[in-house]
Amino acid sequence: MSSYVITGVSKGLGWEFMSQISSNADNTVIGIVRNKKAADERVSNELNGRTNITILEADVTDYEAVKRAVDQAAIINSGSLDYLIANAGYVLGWDAYGGIGSRGLEPERLTAEFRKMMDTNVLANIHLYNLFMPQILKGKAKKVVVISSGMGDIEFTNELGIEIATLYSASKAAMNMITAKFAAQYKKDGILFLSICPGQVDVGHFSDATAEELQGFLEMGRKFTIFNPDFKGMDQPADAIKAILSLVDTCSIENGDSGRYLSHFGNRRWI
Ligand SMILES: NC(=O)c1ccc[n+]([C@@H]2O[C@H](COP(=O)([O-])OP(=O)(O)OC[C@H]3O[C@@H](n4cnc5c(N)ncnc54)[C@H](OP(=O)(O)O)[C@@H]3O)[C@@H](O)[C@H]2O)c1
Repeated sequence: MSSYVITGVSKGLGWEFMSQISSNADNTVIGIVRNKKAADERVSNELNGRTNITILEADVTDYEAVKRAVDQAAIINSGSLDYLIANAGYVLGWDAYGGIGSRGLEPERLTAEFRKMMDTNVLANIHLYNLFMPQILKGKAKKVVVISSGMGDIEFTNELGIEIATLYSASKAAMNMITAKFAAQYKKDGILFLSICPGQVDVGHFSDATAEELQGFLEMGRKFTIFNPDFKGMDQPADAIKAILSLVDTCSIENGDSGRYLSHFGNRRWI
């Protein structure tokens, strides 16, 4: 039996993590969301109200709310946590619709979105890791995973010349480094930290974008195909999460995986 905390389980990859992990009745799954009522309803309707799932409410950028959720989690899991999956993330269409030069034409928006991106995708996870550390230290598996992105890879960006999604990419690169720093500190305690990219997965992002807004995104897809002729477009959440869970299972400090930044393939091939 293992215990899991996953942030951002309302939809997309977080929902898929919760759904797959809780399908084993021996696992205890705590999902953190911004809207508990809606998530409880979805669990009830789509997962038959599985009793090994508890939904807690917190905006991950609200330190006090996350602290309350951490305290509630400690009651549910008797103070020990096996797996922490930092999945919640801010994905912004405007950032993906053009390069940083064109985004700079709206400086106030750029400033606000940069701060929101860093608050959600980086700072919130620093607090999340630190707040859950006492429970992780008492867990058996001792694994902490952040859902990263190949967009945070400088070499990949240079090689393909990917202009778009600057703020998002910077937030993922920053979080990879933060995760490596946590790994450096807690390796001696047996805690494995990983940054894992799920691939490019269809969760309905940018579905309301105009054809013009999608130009940069389509150009990136074209570059993906040149980079990897086998690239057939977006993966499905079920396949991506299955691959990640299997990877998390096999990775260990003993195998030299502490602090690594990996794709769902277990290497640096992002697509
Ligand atoms: N899909 C992909 O191709 C892909 C590729 C690489 C990396 N990722 C990463 O995968 C993770 C999950 O994204 P997704 O693709 O599943 O996107 P998604 O469907 O937009 O899900 C994002 C989740 O994060 C939650 N969230 C956002 N801000 C939050 C906040 N301040 N407090 C609490 N929860 C918050 C959302 O909750 P609400 O319902 O309340 O908004 C939602 O549950 C993200 O870290 C993303 O960067 C995705």
